Amino acid sequence: MKIAVLAGGLSTEREVSLTSGSMITNSLVRSGHSVCFVDIYTGLGMNSEGFGCAPEFTDKKIATYKVARRVPDLERLKVESGRGERRCADGVLDICREADVVFNALHGDVGENGQLQALLDMEGIRYTGSGYVGSALAMDKDITKRLLNDVDLPTPHGLALDMSEGIDKAVSEIMTRVGFPCVIKPCTGGSSVGISMSDNENELRVALAEAAKYEDRILAECKICGREFAVGVVGNTVLPPVEIIPHSGFYDYENKYQAGKTREVCPPENLSDEDIHRLNSITQKAFSVLRLEGYARFDYIMDESGEFWILEANTLPGMTPTSLLPFAASAAGIGYDELCEKMVRLALEK
Ligand SMILES: Nc1ncnc2c1ncn2[C@@H]1O[C@H](COP(=O)(O)OP(=O)(O)O)[C@@H](O)[C@H]1O
Ligand SMILES: [Mg+2]
Repeated sequence: MKIAVLAGGLSTEREVSLTSGSMITNSLVRSGHSVCFVDIYTGLGMNSEGFGCAPEFTDKKIATYKVARRVPDLERLKVESGRGERRCADGVLDICREADVVFNALHGDVGENGQLQALLDMEGIRYTGSGYVGSALAMDKDITKRLLNDVDLPTPHGLALDMSEGIDKAVSEIMTRVGFPCVIKPCTGGSSVGISMSDNENELRVALAEAAKYEDRILAECKICGREFAVGVVGNTVLPPVEIIPHSGFYDYENKYQAGKTREVCPPENLSDEDIHRLNSITQKAFSVLRLEGYARFDYIMDESGEFWILEANTLPGMTPTSLLPFAASAAGIGYDELCEKMVRLALEK
């Protein structure tokens, strides 16, 4: 098959996506496909020498990208590329039209919020993962919370705020309606970018200023203390949960993508069959309520009383060497290549 792998983009998670995309490309090449890897923002491809060449369909392996320690500087990229806010480079849609299927390896921004999905739908182009409605619903952590709560699925008590109304108003509302300790996050972010925890008013002000760098809409949530898990879904299969144990701090950008910073355990120790069964049924219900398709990953915290709280749904979970969905799949006997093939097959069955 001819497969276009879309990666990069103008997103804080662009490096994560270039890493996912280059690994997916090599996997699809191993499986015998003709693959074109393209950064939708710059329009550049990757070959065995590295990132920056003209994109083309090829049966040759490409270089593997690696996530740097820090979040990329998008303002600099906008200036250096001369592309500003234009999110889809000339020629990208032509590559998609030429392909039998598009493998969406983007994370964040237009690749994950439904806009790209809607554009591909309008062109009659098939793509992996959820459609535009599910993507848009799951992208926004406040909307996700409301939909899940509506069917009695538990999410941490939280409050969405508009930072354009001023930081003092946000501080006072959070202090009266959420309290400490709390977690501050941009409503539509990912990879923990812009997320921090606060124990007091001073920390809260710093956390709000940090989150507001990325977005005006902010979510403040009660911090849940306990064990963290991620649960993946591929087609009709709920994968075994992965326990996430960072060596220090919480599961932030560095702990997510730098090897050796976090211990991932699958299947987790000391998690009963009853707990796993409960996680499965919550995950299945959440997948369907949010109208997701193909595959997804849900993030959970289990509090000290044993209750599972859903933090969020990821419609385009990472496919990097440290990512949780491929790790869980491998524990279930599904290797990386088989996982990518399954994602393609699910796209064609839609
Ligand atoms: N309410 C919360 N209580 C405790 N920890 C949280 C909470 N919300 C987020 N976190 C921590 O922050 C990380 C990122 O939060 P998450 O909501 O999954 O956003 P992202 O889309 O950036 O992954 C989680 O993996 C978890 O470690
Ligand atoms: Mg998460």
